[in-house]
Amino acid sequence: SISGDFSGKKVMITLGPTQEAIDPVRFISNHSSGKMGLAIAKAFRSRGAEVHLVCGPIALSIDPQSYRVYSVKSAQEMYEAAKGIHAQMDYCVFAAAVADYAPAQVASEKIKKSDPEMSILLKKNVDIALELGKSKRPGQVHVGFALETEKEEVHAKAKLDKKNFDLIVLNSARDEGAGFQHDTNRVKLIHRDGRIVDSGLKLKSEVAEMILEELKKAAVWV
Ligand code: PMT
Repeated sequence: SISGDFSGKKVMITLGPTQEAIDPVRFISNHSSGKMGLAIAKAFRSRGAEVHLVCGPIALSIDPQSYRVYSVKSAQEMYEAAKGIHAQMDYCVFAAAVADYAPAQVASEKIKKSDPEMSILLKKNVDIALELGKSKRPGQVHVGFALETEKEEVHAKAKLDKKNFDLIVLNSARDEGAGFQHDTNRVKLIHRDGRIVDSGLKLKSEVAEMILEELKKAAVWV
């Protein structure tokens, strides 16, 4: 194993999108590539941590020698995998773009084209970060993400409180070169005490290092 300032620490990262099946050939999903989550994984790993990746369907290659990988599709599967390892973790980073809703029923056969309009009833998915936040033990650190399009800081702070995060990483879908797919991101790191650090536009690898630095500065670092 690698020695570094996170040696001996166990880290879980959720990353990528989730896929919510409509029928055997179709699903609802989003544009997450997994790049941000994997950049954080690399930063932790290079600094000595044991990193567990709970990973939605992504095209990036992940070295199975370097990470424990739990491959999932739906939000429900992501929740079950994360819940199974959560208690052992020192750090949990919720970088996945989890679908908030899924089809209420998955059709067992391919849905046929007939009417000019059709609708699909959706039901709310489990909120993974919210649920695991309820069982966060003292000393355990949860880092959330927020992807917003308006009133960014207000919404991000509300999520920090509601989901019991220690730090939230806010990216705006309005910022050029930030968010989904890009190799760069611009984030605001919002601490529990209200302190905000703006990363400026940087490579996701550099943003990841900044997140680790902020975690070390946070009051929870004991
Ligand atoms: O993967 P990339 O292409 O590199 O893009 C990176 C990213 C934009 C996906 C990433 O930086 C990011 O912002 N991830 C979170 C996106 C998101 O779904 O944000 P949210 O505001 O909807 O969710 C808030 C937090 O709750 C997030 O930590 C999310 O992982 C978590 N959540 C949300 C819903 C849910 N059902 N379960 C969750 O755990």
